[in-house]
Amino acid sequence: MSFRIQPTPPARPNRCQLFGPGSRPAIFEKMAASDADVVNIDLEDSVAPSDKDSARANVIEAIGGIDWGRKTLSVRINGLDTPYWYRDVVDLLEQASDRLDLIMIPKVGCAADLYAVDALVTAVEAAKGRRKKIGFEVIIESAAGITHVEEIAAATPRLQAMSLGAADFAASMGMQTTGIGGTQASYYMLHEGAKYWSDPWHWAQAAIVAACRTHGVLPVDGPFGDFSDDEGFRAQARRSATLGMVGKWAIHPKQVALANEVFTPSDEAVTEAREILAAMEAAKAKGEGATVYKGRLVDIASIKQAEVIVRQAEMIGDK
Ligand code: COA
Ligand code: MG
Repeated sequence: MSFRIQPTPPARPNRCQLFGPGSRPAIFEKMAASDADVVNIDLEDSVAPSDKDSARANVIEAIGGIDWGRKTLSVRINGLDTPYWYRDVVDLLEQASDRLDLIMIPKVGCAADLYAVDALVTAVEAAKGRRKKIGFEVIIESAAGITHVEEIAAATPRLQAMSLGAADFAASMGMQTTGIGGTQASYYMLHEGAKYWSDPWHWAQAAIVAACRTHGVLPVDGPFGDFSDDEGFRAQARRSATLGMVGKWAIHPKQVALANEVFTPSDEAVTEAREILAAMEAAKAKGEGATVYKGRLVDIASIKQAEVIVRQAEMIGDK
């Protein structure tokens, strides 16, 4: 390990973030009653420009008026290139109750974007005497965002989570697709006449995971647009989980159970992880740094891998 210890990210479950438009208050109670770990009420792209003011008012009322249980409650504000975002921040922090946990900042392009929001948030918090400090989450969904992903991850101690936003990312990158995540028909390798599809989102996801893990931030996979395709969602989510992401968005309530299924370590995985820890304890007692478990090598690195799974399961169990 480097002299600099890898920080641990916030110890809260983030398997699923359920989104809903701030202009549709009829679904807020349903979002609160869902099994999502995080609820994201949107003021950005699912809200039409003519509805921005009324949506903001709905959201401020709902934050204090609805019982959100133990969920992490987040509001997605408008982007810093719009005339709406400062009013989102000021009104939320001046008027919303302390139940608000996070604001999500879309389309961040550099650390200075977060510096600007942090300065405004800090001033309003001080002016209003707000005791609970608001956390941030961001969406990486532009060429600039992925280019500056590391400085963004390091930008402010308020930052708790970072998501990949596949649709805006694809548009910003000039990718030839209108799909929101998932397999892309034209992205394949050809081998002896057969097509093998690979994953165009992989490199961006891996860059996000590395930046997040370096700076103690939760890496999250964003939306999967085709909510009729459960297997497509599962496949995308399983790849994300394998790469180190902790959860995925739901843009329809039926995706919540799918995300929870994929990002909750299975009983078998937890049992195996505990067995590996026990095998390594036994090896250590004999003065050995490596041993054999089910016919394969396990060593000190395996302890850390197993601990990731056990910690995740314990955190979800505590929820
Ligand atoms: N959260 C909670 N409940 C929701 C919901 C959501 N995001 N979206 C729909 N529901 C409810 C509906 O009210 C309906 O409830 P009912 O059975 O009590 O009548 C049920 O789930 C089934 O809804 P359905 O008819 O299949 O969907 P819809 O046509 O009402 O809405 C969407 C579909 C995609 C428009 C809607 O899910 C949505 O707005 N999603 C989020 C979009 C968003 O926030 N985008 C920004 C991030 S990418
Ligand atoms: Mg977007």
